[in-house]
Amino acid sequence: AHSLKGRDFLMLVDFKKEELQYLIDLAIELKRQQKAGETHHILKGKTLGMIFEKSSTRTRVSFEVGMYQLGGHALFLSGNDLQIGRGETIWDTAQTLSRYLDGIMIRTFAHRKVVELARGATIPVVNGLTDLSHPCQALCDFQTIYEKKGTLDGLKIAYIGDGNNMVHSLMMGAAKLGMNMSIATPEGYEPDADIVRQTQDNAAETGSRVVVCHDPKEAIADADIIYTDVWASMGQEAEQKEREIAFANYQVNDALVKYAKKDYLFMHCLPAHRGEEVSESVIDGAQSIIFDQAENRLHAQKAILAAIMS
Ligand code: CP
Ligand code: NVA
Repeated sequence: AHSLKGRDFLMLVDFKKEELQYLIDLAIELKRQQKAGETHHILKGKTLGMIFEKSSTRTRVSFEVGMYQLGGHALFLSGNDLQIGRGETIWDTAQTLSRYLDGIMIRTFAHRKVVELARGATIPVVNGLTDLSHPCQALCDFQTIYEKKGTLDGLKIAYIGDGNNMVHSLMMGAAKLGMNMSIATPEGYEPDADIVRQTQDNAAETGSRVVVCHDPKEAIADADIIYTDVWASMGQEAEQKEREIAFANYQVNDALVKYAKKDYLFMHCLPAHRGEEVSESVIDGAQSIIFDQAENRLHAQKAILAAIMS
């Protein structure tokens, strides 16, 4: 019913609500099969190429292990070592890789590059993070929330911090899935205006709300989920000092989480900077589910790969 065979996985906004729900259900089923020790070689004989132009711990390991568990194989391709690093075009790279592989995952800077790769490739392309979005992380986050809360419908996510790739993907998914989202960023660090507009339109269709403000207390009020991410993302290292000043009042800490629901859950895509965007007390506290999220990268990505590559 929900054939995603051959589709790219570039942005959550490209998918219907039912398709996202299907992927979450499939992730939960593949997780069950793996825990039960059941063989699930859905991608036997298939190979995924993984291009990395930025660092990674979770994405690299979970994609590689995921392909292995699905009966396939994954190749780690460093952007510096590929000819792309010496100027070979994205088009030629996409065409060539399509002759060997069954799918490509790419982590890079400009989102445009991923779109171009997908255009040039005859096989599915998965966005493993760009400066604009991080859909694999957001999908596993929705899986995690669903597992913990038993529903997604009508829950409120508060995102405190930088208007970056992470919040873009969370917004796109939340709006499609009927979740409410309140975002608080410092002035000048808001999420992309076009993405805000588009997600607000999608939210209106599912009867949910996406609100952007500058007051962390307002955003966090009655939140079921509190989410934050680093203040300086990969590629923004030179802005670390000025960002620490701009974000000083945006730390998720004991004083702030008091405004959320009592049974709030704390989430972070990781890697985290304790003492910056989040206090040690919150990220290492009893309501933090950061490692359940990290684990679900494996299961959610297996669902994506199985759906688009089999
Ligand atoms: N959350 C995430 O994508 O982690 P990595 O950068 O370690 O892949
Ligand atoms: N916003 C962070 C997410 C890392 C997984 C970054 O882009 O560096």
